[in-house]
Amino acid sequence: MKIIQATIFGAAALAIAYTAQAQDYRAQAISMMKRDFHAKGIAGMDRLDEDTVQKICNLSHNNPPKGLAERLQQDQLEDIKYPADGKFLGDWKSGEKIAQRGRGMTWKDKDGKTSRGEPNGGSCYNCHQIGPDTTSFGSIGNSLLHFGKIRGYGADMQKYVYGKIYNAKAFNLCSAMPRFGHSDTLSEEQIKDLVALLLDPNSPVNK
Ligand code: HEC
Repeated sequence: MKIIQATIFGAAALAIAYTAQAQDYRAQAISMMKRDFHAKGIAGMDRLDEDTVQKICNLSHNNPPKGLAERLQQDQLEDIKYPADGKFLGDWKSGEKIAQRGRGMTWKDKDGKTSRGEPNGGSCYNCHQIGPDTTSFGSIGNSLLHFGKIRGYGADMQKYVYGKIYNAKAFNLCSAMPRFGHSDTLSEEQIKDLVALLLDPNSPVNK
């Protein structure tokens, strides 16, 4: 009995020590980044500040209490600005270029434009398979090939995809997908072009 008790106390003490140490590492990591990063061009020190969602997700290892996650997700949902004209489908050809392009947001770039004067890219292929002809893509996200064919082309699906690209965390709080509209990385028109890439029946994605 004594041995079991000692083991339980030992394990509890270890858990507390481990948590304290993990907290300490977190504080150390944050202060190290703040010490070693320097603001330059559009890349300001504010990029190191976590917002509430990022902080909650980081502290809970992407597993926040359900009620809290639902409340924060609702806030993110309310943050989405849907197009005023109610139209979600742009030009899939332009969408394919945006999906492939990964440039933008570095210190050399300007707000919304790269140093070469092009609009920011979405780097969607870094994480997703999308078109049938691009053989190099990442797999952090699910495959989006045949997205419209599989999920449907209706207005609700168009609105969902627009919202997901605008703010992925509105649908999955600790999503690894960047919030392209929320962060002003992509414009309304660019997001519409990406919706068309996934949901226009004529897009190669759906052939
Ligand atoms: C850093 C990786 C990453 C990047 C970059 C990224 N995504 Fe995602 N995306 C994910 C992950 C992970 C998921 C699945 C988890 C989730 O729902 O958040 C996802 C989910 C999605 C979904 C929902 C899929 C479904 O089955 O409902 C869509 C649509 C989507 N991404 C489109 C895009 C588009 C368009 C871009 C480029 C503008 C993009 N993603 C860029 C990681 C990424």
